Order: sequence, then C-alpha cells, then structure tokens
Amino acid sequence: MCGIVGVLGKGPVAELLVDALKRLEYRGYDSAGVATLENGQIGRRRAEGKLRNLEELLKVEPLHGTSGIGHTRWATHGKPVEANAHPHMTDDVAVVHNGIIENFRELKAQLVAEGAPFSSDTDTEVIAHLITRELRAGKDPVAAVYQTLAHLQGAFALAMIFRGYDDLMIVARQGSPLAIGYGDGEMFVGSDAIALAPFTDQVAYLEDGDWAVITREGVAIHDRQGQSVERPVAKSLAAGLVVDKGNYRHFMAKEIHEQPEVVGHTLAHYLDLANYQVSLPDLPLDFSQVTRLSLSACGTAFYSCFVAKYWFERWAKLPVDVDIASEFRYREIAMDQGGAALFVSQSGETADTLASLRYCRDQRQHVLSVVNVQESSIARESDVVLPTLGGPEIGVASTKAFTCQLTVLACLAIAAGKARGVIGPELEAELVKALVEVPRHMATILRDETPYETLAHSLSKARDVLYLGRGTSYPIALEGALKLKEISYLHAEGYAAGELKHGPIALIDEGVPVIVIAPRDNLFDKTVSNMQEVAAREGKIILVSDADPTSTGCAVQTMLRVPTVHPFVTPLVYALPVQMIAYHTAVFMGTDVDQPRNLAKSVTVE
Ligand code: F6R
Repeated sequence: MCGIVGVLGKGPVAELLVDALKRLEYRGYDSAGVATLENGQIGRRRAEGKLRNLEELLKVEPLHGTSGIGHTRWATHGKPVEANAHPHMTDDVAVVHNGIIENFRELKAQLVAEGAPFSSDTDTEVIAHLITRELRAGKDPVAAVYQTLAHLQGAFALAMIFRGYDDLMIVARQGSPLAIGYGDGEMFVGSDAIALAPFTDQVAYLEDGDWAVITREGVAIHDRQGQSVERPVAKSLAAGLVVDKGNYRHFMAKEIHEQPEVVGHTLAHYLDLANYQVSLPDLPLDFSQVTRLSLSACGTAFYSCFVAKYWFERWAKLPVDVDIASEFRYREIAMDQGGAALFVSQSGETADTLASLRYCRDQRQHVLSVVNVQESSIARESDVVLPTLGGPEIGVASTKAFTCQLTVLACLAIAAGKARGVIGPELEAELVKALVEVPRHMATILRDETPYETLAHSLSKARDVLYLGRGTSYPIALEGALKLKEISYLHAEGYAAGELKHGPIALIDEGVPVIVIAPRDNLFDKTVSNMQEVAAREGKIILVSDADPTSTGCAVQTMLRVPTVHPFVTPLVYALPVQMIAYHTAVFMGTDVDQPRNLAKSVTVE
C-alpha cells in the first residue's frame, strides 16, 4: 500500500522523509521518491525498489530543501518503474498520492489535448497538471487545489508542495487516511501516525472530504464545501504500537472506515486499471480444465466463499462446493485428481481451515489461499497465495478483511470466467469498471452514520432479529446476522428470503425486526414478495436498498439507502450497512465491541 509523508522543517528534510517512509514499509511498496523545495525550486529524487536505493541516490545527488514530501508506491496505474514513482510534478507543483483517481482517463485526455506533457502512466500525474493549469491561469495554490479537487473522483489522499512557497504544504483526504503531526515550528503529514512517531506525538486525523493548508505556524482545515473545520489534536501512542485507533472510538470503527482504501489497494493489486482487465499472478492451474472448485473457510471468511460460489457459478460457469472448514475436514470427500481447492482466512492460522487445506493436499488438489497475514501457516502451505491487502485487522469482528476477501475472489472469478471463455473483453471491462467504483460507493455509505445510530435504539430492544436476502445478498444476510450476534449479543439469524415461508415466518410478529438486503437487481421483485409476507404479519421492516421504499408497497419502518451499483459488486457494497448496523447497535448497548466476550481473533484450536 502506498505511504505518504511530508515535512515543513527547520533544517534539511530529505533524510527525515526517508526515515518516515521506513516506518511505512510494513504497507508494502515497490518504488519510492522524495521532493523538496530548494531556493524556491522543486528538486526530486526517485528510485525503483527498496528505500535503500533512494538513500543511495540521495547520497550522490542530495536534496537540501527544508520542506518536502515523500512516498512509497505500490504500483496501481503503470509498472513499478522510476518514471511512475511519486512525487509527480511540473515546474510548479509536486504531488504524492495514495488511492485511485477513477476518472483519470477523461482528465488526461483533456489535458493532453491542451498540450500538457505527461511523463508517466500514473493516474496521479493528472493532479499535477490540473493544479498547474489553475496556477498558470493566475490562481494561488490554495485556490488551484480547491478547484482541482472538485474534478477528482475516487478515493485518495494527497500531499503537495509548490514552487516559490517554502512555507506551504496542502493535503487532502477523500477515502484514504491522512494524519497531520504538530511540531514546534515544524509540521508533518503521514499516511498514519506510525510514520510521524519519531517527530511528534501530537496528531490530528483528517476526515473524508477534508483538505488542509499547512504552514510551519499551523494548519487551516476545510471540509468538502470549503468551510473551515477543527479536527481534534490528540496524543498518539503510535511510537509504542504497530497500529492505533486514530480518531475512532474502536478498532472496528476504524477498520470499517478503512474499507474504501484497503479495497482500493487490493483491487489495484489484482487489476490492470489502465486497461480494465484482471491481472492475477501465475496460477498453478488452468481454469478452463477445472471441473469443480472447492472452497472452505470459517465464520465470516466462509461467507466470503459463499458469495464467491455465486460469482464462480454465474460468471465463470464453474461448479463450486462451498463448505464450513470444520465440516469439510471430516467429510472424507473424494476429490478428482488435479482439482482445485481454495481456502480463505484473515489470520491464515485457523485450525479447521488449515486441516481442510492439508486434507486437500493429500488428495492432490491444487491449493490456493486468500489470506491477510502473508507469513501465516495457510499461506506457507499453499501452492499460490492471493493476499488481501487489508493491513492488520485488530477488531475481533472481521470487517475490512471480509470485503478484501470478496475483492480478491471477485477478481479470481473474472479470471476464471475469462479462461473458460464465458467472459469476453467487453464483459471483463464492464465488471472491472464496476469493481473500480466500489471504494467510492463505500465512501458514500460511510459518510452518514446517523440512520444506523437511530436504528440501534430500536434494534437493541429486540428479542430476535432476522436478516433476509436472495442471490449474493443471502450470504450478506448471514454475515449481517453473525456480526450482530457476535458484538451485540442479540439473537439474529440470516435466511434466504425464499425460505421464509418454510419455517422462519413463524417467528414474525410486531416485535421482530426483519432486515431485508434487497438491491434493485433481477431478484428484487421476488424479495419484495417476501417482504410483503413479513409486513402482513406486522414484522418491522428495515430495508437496505437502492430502491424507493414506496415501490415495495410495504410499510418500511427504516430505510438504509445504498448507492445503485452493478449487480456483480452488490455484496461488496452491501457488506458495509450490515457492519454498521451491528457496530452501532453494539455501541448503543455498551458491549466490548473490539473484544466481544468469548471470541478470539485467531482460532487455532478446533
Ligand atoms: C467474525 C469473524 C470470524 C472469522 C473466523 C475465521 O467476525 O471474524 O468468524 O471470520 O474465525 O477466521 P480467519 O479468517 O482468521 O480464518
């Protein structure tokens, strides 16, 4: 994952920038760069590979400026070569960027037509040229940045310095985190407080839509509308910790809010964003020859497999068996030689999942895994590891790991569909485009938590809560019920909406909230019929949908609005509302959200 640092210092900053970048190494990167202002001019050094290459370069070609920005890049748009490393610059501005600018192609085409000289394949470079255009039209840096931000779509964090302005840095946050560190006559910025730990423990976190004008004397923070806002400056414990909660009350809240960023990074790892194609590592199997894929995992990771079953079957016409690992390992299932088995695990240490993997190895299956901890046992024992780039997940209830797992599985399903001749170039581009838009839709959902806080009051009084969904929304209903159970301790169950009348309908009365996950897709009308059965029995309907609630003909007690998205990506987007329902209900009920009773983060026993 990309890392951003910036320093308005008292002396030369290049070394400080590199030191700060070293603290962001844990995110992973493939090139690095710094830029500083010397006698008002921007000087830049960049190098492929590890930070020591940049350090060596700086020894030979030092930078002496006292204000500067630095970056570690994890390749997204364009190969990991020096020309694509950040900072990107013109004579007037240098920019470092974390995230994805979704509309960079249109912006680039326009800028190229106007004669802007591009020197990289990145999406970032459009930002430098857009700002330059505004500066050359006579605007000052603050106005130029404000104007430019209005053109950018996507999830990103930015830091910028400007020719002739030694005491100025402008930063912005839209979906990717950014922290500001307050020193004594010096100021710092970083992707997280860990980067800032050697400089200061006084840290403020920007919120989505914020942008800040920083000088050595202080910071002016503005929101999306340009209004001046205050963000609390708090003492960071990052020096002693690998991770901290930032401005959030719980790790779970932070991890829910990190999803636009980490899903973006995971997508960038598995997609060729410039060509709207999937781009996976070499796999030890040819999907066109696979007759059956076996998926197994536990808990939330199992639900990501369950979603993937729908994806592989629908988009790759590949039959899939999906199993809870604790059942799979003892089923003694006969497996065709040369078949494929895939295991999903955040920790990579879950005992049942590992045992299932070993069973499949013994059955001579190709073993693939999707894990968040790359040094884990499951990763080590797999033929191919497809990492989720979620970063450390501390909250016991899995959130960002789940959506990152879904992200990897979605990319893999497209790759399988291509290999099996089901997905042609046009459809691939359509599906990839839908995936690329997911971080933005996630950020939209996370912008307003009020409906979830309000709903928490009534849910907390319920005896039972039902979740209903069809298609890929069925596993999301199961995940929603699991999340609510594990952190609020309320009894909740998820059902396939069509199953309602085969039993669970007996539970429905005016005291039972029924949370209906119903994107406006080809199954929407069917789900509405099931909602009507609930309404007829006075169940309280909470609708999670992009549809107009009046179109259902039912009394909807609470509407949780979700942006309209491509049907392929609905599980990725609808995962967030169910996480937020659980989170706010648990907070309202006063439970230990990050460490719910009886639960462990890594389940290494049966
Ligand atoms: C639920 C949750 C668990 C895990 C399960 C598997 O929020 O976190 O259900 O998903 O214990 O863990 P991993 O993914 O580490 O194998």
